[in-house]
Amino acid sequence: MPRYPDLHALGQVERDIATWPPLVFAGEARALKRALGEVCNGQGFLLQGGDCAESFAEHSGNNIRDYFRVILQMAVVLTFGASASVVKVGRIAGQFAKPRSSDTETRGDVTLPAYRGDIVNGIDFSAAARRPDPERIKMAYRQSAATLNLLRAYAQGGYANLENVHKWMLEFVADSPQAAQYQEVADRITEAIIFMRAIGITARTHNQLRQTRFYTSHESLLLGYEEALTRVDPETGDWYATSGHMLWIGDRTRDPDHAHVEYCRGIGNPLGLKCGPGMDPGTLVRLTGILNPDNEPGRLTLVTRFGHERIGEHLPGLIRAVRAAGRHVVWSCDPMHGNTLNDRGYKTRPFEHILKEVEQFFAIHEAEGTYPGGIHIEMTGQNVTECTGGARALSSDGLSDRYHTHCDPRLNAEQAVELAFLMVRLMKPGAARNARMDQDRPQAFS
Ligand code: PEP
Ligand code: CO
Repeated sequence: MPRYPDLHALGQVERDIATWPPLVFAGEARALKRALGEVCNGQGFLLQGGDCAESFAEHSGNNIRDYFRVILQMAVVLTFGASASVVKVGRIAGQFAKPRSSDTETRGDVTLPAYRGDIVNGIDFSAAARRPDPERIKMAYRQSAATLNLLRAYAQGGYANLENVHKWMLEFVADSPQAAQYQEVADRITEAIIFMRAIGITARTHNQLRQTRFYTSHESLLLGYEEALTRVDPETGDWYATSGHMLWIGDRTRDPDHAHVEYCRGIGNPLGLKCGPGMDPGTLVRLTGILNPDNEPGRLTLVTRFGHERIGEHLPGLIRAVRAAGRHVVWSCDPMHGNTLNDRGYKTRPFEHILKEVEQFFAIHEAEGTYPGGIHIEMTGQNVTECTGGARALSSDGLSDRYHTHCDPRLNAEQAVELAFLMVRLMKPGAARNARMDQDRPQAFS
């Protein structure tokens, strides 16, 4: 947790926010939990993605629109790949606080507090910017509200119309230097849409083709902010976080005896839990019990992030332990956080390493007979140069061109859609059904 120099001011901000309107409702969080429950049973796929850290500087309508457009493009491709509905969850409208491995940052002979995300302090390397300022919490709340407002309008107001998304997807393929690789999938999606149109299923006749459901999520890190937005749901009498639909616990704050786990176990929202190479199977099983004592499908998503070189060593053991304990979870792959490297001063992630981790994630689940239920990525709708590789083979030399992230390197718009296309060949339309049949096997995991 950050050390605020003025605790009195912090307390005042938290008391103010505790009286402000909730950003989301408990009923929405429950709807997401139900959708994730279906994913848990092999009947859907989770697409979770967005900025590593949202920033005040990048807050604009165009950024939100471009981000949403990429999520929709990815979703249409993945829906085809999974032959199942894709649950769309953004790392957005609240993803401001960052965990840091070190409390301080040193440049030359100057040491200052580390940057912890715009909700805490500023990214500039000066004593003034790095001082934690509680007023920033109010700005983050207001930015989240404005972002969510626009996302709700886009999801419900016609922007998400399947015909639009299909058109953007075709434009993406036409522009890509790797077009040939994606053409077959694109053609098959086109055929499916033409077929639906022919039998009278269009955006005009069917709401599902005109609107979509979109949910928000962020790391539940800054507990004072979360607590101020934790409210009792009048319908059920249960406590819910209203700062976002889904909250996750980061890899650095998942100690079963520490505050972040204690907070999350008390709220009714669907939860994510990051699992890195330091997670041992016994601790994971214990955490699944603490965070999901009723073993409710959809309550808990395990977001594994080992890196392409280590996933093979760690994932099978965790899968076996969770299965032996009979715990219901969604397995999701974060191929970003284990694949970060430093390239001449730039934090970057090679696209081929990201893809390799995703490929192994699918292969390991297939070998273990479990369902690979989702993907968790850091991406943006902008044409940034933060991750190397991809169809345009962005080189290390190009990183400096448009490197804008406030924390970790993100896939740019093209790289994100490309990843979705490349995932289709890993997804088996039958996988969902087979996983369901496994779960129906009597007593297997009860
Ligand atoms: C993140 O998701 O940005 C993050 C910090 O991840 P992890 O907790 O897995 O390191
Ligand atoms: Co990150």
